[in-house]
Amino acid sequence: MTDTTEIRKGLAGVVVDTTAISKVNPETNSLLYRGYPVQQLAATQPFEAVAYLLWHGELPSPEQLRAFRAEERAHRALDPAVKAAIDLTPVSAHPMDVVRTAVSVLGARDAEASDSSPEADLRKSVRLFAALPAAIAYDQRRRWGRDPIEPREDLDYSRNFLWMTFGEEPHEVVARAFDVSMILYAEHSFNASTFTARVITSTMADLHSAVVGAIGALKGPLHGGANEAVMHVFDEIGEAAAVEAWLDEALATKRKIMGFGHRVYKSGDSRVPTMKAALDTLVEHYGAQELAALYDALEAHFVARKGIHPNLDYPSGPAYRLMGFDTELFTPLFVAARVTGWTAHIMEQAASNALIRPLSEYVGPDERQVPGA
Ligand code: ACO
Repeated sequence: MTDTTEIRKGLAGVVVDTTAISKVNPETNSLLYRGYPVQQLAATQPFEAVAYLLWHGELPSPEQLRAFRAEERAHRALDPAVKAAIDLTPVSAHPMDVVRTAVSVLGARDAEASDSSPEADLRKSVRLFAALPAAIAYDQRRRWGRDPIEPREDLDYSRNFLWMTFGEEPHEVVARAFDVSMILYAEHSFNASTFTARVITSTMADLHSAVVGAIGALKGPLHGGANEAVMHVFDEIGEAAAVEAWLDEALATKRKIMGFGHRVYKSGDSRVPTMKAALDTLVEHYGAQELAALYDALEAHFVARKGIHPNLDYPSGPAYRLMGFDTELFTPLFVAARVTGWTAHIMEQAASNALIRPLSEYVGPDERQVPGA
């Protein structure tokens, strides 16, 4: 290694490969899935159509969507072995550990687990997409001490997810906001968890192994864990009137404020306005003006003080709180959505693979003798 080697900590600014799945453009604050602006997708498409788009590269025709929905609905019921595995995890375990375990069990029991052909990978992706809501809803309900609820084939993805969690058909406003959050969380180019999935795939390991690794990467509060962390911050602050004093203290101790900042976007996250609009409909629906006031006050004061803008986790955390999910379940909801993007990337990586193996510059001791050698 020469002195001129440039080390880009955290791979910041490094382009490691091409992708045709999504384009993040921080200059124009835009995010395209297969060329379509995510805002337009969120306004016009159901999440199932967006999942199909990420995997197939095109939006489905009405007939293709019908067939895709039928396939997804056929795989919703949770494998009893996964239920048993979830029951073996204590409720003191974080729900991200539970969903990671569930995917691991699904992989170990999938008859096509070791078949990494594009056709088998696509079928496994759809099965995972279909099974994750049941696993997450099952875990949420056992934490409440309630019996699980079987999936319903007459409901779309988001309505069924909410039905299995809460045991009632969701109001249109809630179902729409949830669907929008799933669409916005579905894909975001080479973020840490997607890159993890691609690294694992590059060794020619199987799809479930790559998804399990991605779940591990998503768990951290600098990535997906931030939507949960945002609500811990809200709970700590309590009310809008307390924001300024809380922020003084937080900034004085150099705390990171969860839900703000982004590695790629520096003047605002392209997904935030759409999720904030969905949150506004929920605030109206639930009459949650106090929460909205706290949200606005923290954003206004933090942006004014640091010039750092909210990311998607900032509006989605409060949205999931209003819907009634436990705070610890928020990041598993992110998993349910992002499994579409992860698996699209796994298939893209596998289709034109090169082992991902960067170099490092050694800074440890010079060569020396082991005592007695
Ligand atoms: N609160 C306080 N300060 C912040 C924040 C924040 N949320 N974000 C960035 N900064 C500050 C850093 O302290 C640093 O300041 P310094 O130069 O004085 O040391 C500067 O801004 C640059 O921040 P970095 O962390 O170096 O920038 P990076 O690109 O690595 O960070 C990250 C991006 C990790 C997302 C960061 O903004 C952060 O930690 N945010 C909070 C966690 C979060 O919300 N994560 C969700 C990401 S989006 C998603 O997963 C959907």
